[in-house]
Amino acid sequence: MSAKIIIGAQWGDEGKAKIIDILSQEAEVVVRSQGGNNAGHTVAVDGQVYKFHLIPSGILFPGTLCIVANGVVIDPEGILKEIDNLHASGITTDNLKISLRAHLVMPYHKELDGITESYRGLDDIGTTKKGIGPCYMDKAERSGVRVCDLYNPEVFKKRVRENVEIKNAIIQKVYNKDISFDAEKIIEEYLGYAEILKRYVTDTTVLVYDAIKAGKNVLFEGAQGTLLDIDLGTYPYVTSSHPITGGVCVGSGIGPTMIDECIGVMKGYVTRVGKGPFPTELFDEVGETIRNVGHEFGTTTGRPRRCGWFDAVIGKFAVRTSGLTSIALNKVDVMADIPVVKICVAYKKGDEIIKDFPASLEDLALCEPIYEEMPGWGQIDHIKTYEELPETIKNYVKRVEALCDAKVTMIGVGPNRDQNIYV
Ligand code: GDP
Ligand code: IMO
Ligand code: MG
Repeated sequence: MSAKIIIGAQWGDEGKAKIIDILSQEAEVVVRSQGGNNAGHTVAVDGQVYKFHLIPSGILFPGTLCIVANGVVIDPEGILKEIDNLHASGITTDNLKISLRAHLVMPYHKELDGITESYRGLDDIGTTKKGIGPCYMDKAERSGVRVCDLYNPEVFKKRVRENVEIKNAIIQKVYNKDISFDAEKIIEEYLGYAEILKRYVTDTTVLVYDAIKAGKNVLFEGAQGTLLDIDLGTYPYVTSSHPITGGVCVGSGIGPTMIDECIGVMKGYVTRVGKGPFPTELFDEVGETIRNVGHEFGTTTGRPRRCGWFDAVIGKFAVRTSGLTSIALNKVDVMADIPVVKICVAYKKGDEIIKDFPASLEDLALCEPIYEEMPGWGQIDHIKTYEELPETIKNYVKRVEALCDAKVTMIGVGPNRDQNIYV
């Protein structure tokens, strides 16, 4: 019986959903607590691939309660599409619960995401254009619209009308775009969604608290990753929420004393989608091999992911900022054909050796990775136990543990449920 947080320890897409899927076999509750449908979580089961954006990956288990908690920003059209897709695959959503306190992604958020990105020109962030930033902006500005407002039509209508007036003025007068949102149309559309979503909506903070108090196995499914955290990531090339473990408590409405374990998911290399600095990025055929063998293309946007060597400065930063109790190291099978692998152990900035991930992007841009080289390990995707693994990969894992200061307890050797080795 335990409450475990699973977060991304790099720039997202570390294979969090696969770990959630594996651990879900013994979980009774799975909770998403931040982000929105900018997330793309892939689970492979018996040759079938499922992609999730807002719904917790635990939904594949019919007895598991799946909670979209207060810290998530919900695009109702998006979540309904996911629900429909699940139903079409014969998967029930009877166990899905959505927080009354979650903020709604509105049509003007999505439009503004696109407009501000094009306005930034070459300085764009490379967002997923799902309206995530503008929605969290309204939340912080206190003009957001929440799920609970949908069930108080007078309040909902007032909020939408006020917002539409302001957003139209911004879009037309600041950005000079000939676009006009119609508040009444949005109200009609969203009140329609409200009817369908009604059966899922509740105060999820109570559910999470009661489940942990009752000694149930509860998993918190992180979205994005540590370096996309709005406080601790590579600002401004970040998302607008807190993907670190600290964000989970706020985003699901529980206290930190209720958490037992914090697992950080890493890949045996690093990827990043969107713009921003990336010290170990590879521009050669090794990077190309990793992208092709690892199918490193975005689940949400289809963009090619930038690929680079494992960076232990990032790994240690994630362990420190999230209090990670262990590491799940995924996708080492992807590196099978690389004869000599590299690990970045520190950065060099001029004459200075840097071991702690820098705050300033300008400093980070001046950092050169210092690498250690290790022999590769060949094909391992068929291996089932730690004992059977080649010494070369065992040594690599030990080096990752020593540099990042946390135990590796799971090693991913393929996308499927059974391609996971417990250490
Ligand atoms: P998430 O956003 O962290 O859940 O990760 P994504 O689903 O966006 O990307 C991870 C991709 O790698 C998915 O296609 C997974 O099926 C796949 N994957 C996960 N673990 C492994 C692994 O150990 N080996 C290989 N080859 N693929 C994996
Ligand atoms: P999962 O949960 C990888 C990135 C975007 C962009 C930046 C800001 O699948 O790991 P946003 O739309 O959030 O305002 O975009 O964050 N980003 C992700 N990158 N995996 C994700 O989620 C991401 N969610 C957002 O590419 O650089
Ligand atoms: Mg992803």
